[in-house]
Amino acid sequence: MLLLKQVESLQRFLRSRKEAGDTIGFVPTMGALHEGHLALVRKARSENTLSVCSIFVNPTQFNESGDLDAYPRLPGPDLEALTSVGNDVVLMPSVSEIYPNGKSGGAPVDLAGLDQPMEGAFRPGHFAGVAQVVDRLLDIVQPHRLYMGQKDYQQAAIIGHLLRETGRPVELRVHPTIREADGLAMSSRNLRLTPDHRERAPSLYQTLQWIKEAYLQGESVAQIEQVAMDRLDQPGFRPEYVQIVDGVTLQPARTPDQHEVVVACLACWAGDVRLIDNLILKDN
Ligand code: PAF
Repeated sequence: MLLLKQVESLQRFLRSRKEAGDTIGFVPTMGALHEGHLALVRKARSENTLSVCSIFVNPTQFNESGDLDAYPRLPGPDLEALTSVGNDVVLMPSVSEIYPNGKSGGAPVDLAGLDQPMEGAFRPGHFAGVAQVVDRLLDIVQPHRLYMGQKDYQQAAIIGHLLRETGRPVELRVHPTIREADGLAMSSRNLRLTPDHRERAPSLYQTLQWIKEAYLQGESVAQIEQVAMDRLDQPGFRPEYVQIVDGVTLQPARTPDQHEVVVACLACWAGDVRLIDNLILKDN
């Protein structure tokens, strides 16, 4: 696997590979890689002739500096994991490589309100930072396909919008959430759970499964959201939101027949670790 830290070197390398006819699958990450990331890399390898992964803890998407500092950084194990799945190229740039003209700038396009509900309401500015860094990384890598996980449903929806608005010729491939055997969605943040919180964290997925059943049986959205909040509200756990939304607009959902795609999304603190998860309730 080729490890590069300089944007210029990566671009030179990729230019020559594209001229030789390679197709590029790109997996942007912030490191602390787990099976969810590796599934994206495997997919990128199987659908392209060259896989590129970036590891960059993007400061502009953290709205609390404590969260940025606490974000796990594990370069050694990350490189081993990427080698084990046969990833071809990894970019590990510095902040100044990504933002040579400074970090201010925000989202390159209007996010059409997709950044407002759910995560956006609790993490102001988060998605502007995500859109900013993904756009910059796409500018650098110019991949044919971009791979993201469904676990960050709202993020994937916003990046889909970004691609449409910028007209970049990149195909977005969203991979289903990879879960632990007990249902907990894989996340870099799981590393920071206490043993007790880890043991009880599958309650998030169990709640999502309950929501799906209740929604498809015709219970009202408001009632389901309230009961789900109560179910998550256990000692040491503090739910921030449970929302059932249209899978495209991310606006509050009504009955199943009124939408093509419906998704339930939630965020819940387990101790001082903030977890998110979602489940598609309906998809035509
Ligand atoms: O999902 C993530 O890990 C990050 O938000 C991303 C897409 C790599 C941008 O920093």
